[in-house]
Amino acid sequence: MQTLRNVVVLLHLVGFAVLFGAWVVEAAARRYQATRVMNLGLLVAAVAGLALAAPWGLDGDLNYTKIGIKLVVLVVIGALIGISSSRARKGSPMPAGVFWLVGALTLFNAGIAVLW
Ligand code: HEM
Repeated sequence: MQTLRNVVVLLHLVGFAVLFGAWVVEAAARRYQATRVMNLGLLVAAVAGLALAAPWGLDGDLNYTKIGIKLVVLVVIGALIGISSSRARKGSPMPAGVFWLVGALTLFNAGIAVLW
């Protein structure tokens, strides 16, 4: 059971890596736009994160305040990416500030996961 949970943690980290990696690629290319790869990473991190938030009966209490904040931040990131993608399809790209906010919120979620 512990190994299975560790595999889900690994999947969660892969989701984070895909989301943040895709964001860094766009930032480095100075495109400042949301991409489908960001959406994919967010989805993987969300599904694995929700699975990790379930009580697995293993030692260690879950910090539901922290998990709740992470969930809210994830929903905000998803909304920003979703709104940006639909605006881009209509020909009006997202403001650069929103792009930086997506990266900052992603890093914030990883930060509270590791530091709190
Ligand atoms: C963009 C969104 C997210 C990012 C970047 C992120 C990032 C991370 C990272 C880097 C860790 C590893 C921490 C460590 O091993 O010390 C982690 C762990 C964890 N995350 Fe997330 N996370 C996100 C969303 C979520 C969501 C939505 C949930 C649940 C609703 C969640 C639940 C958890 C849990 C329960 C752990 C602890 C795993 C363990 O027992 O070690 N995460 N997250």
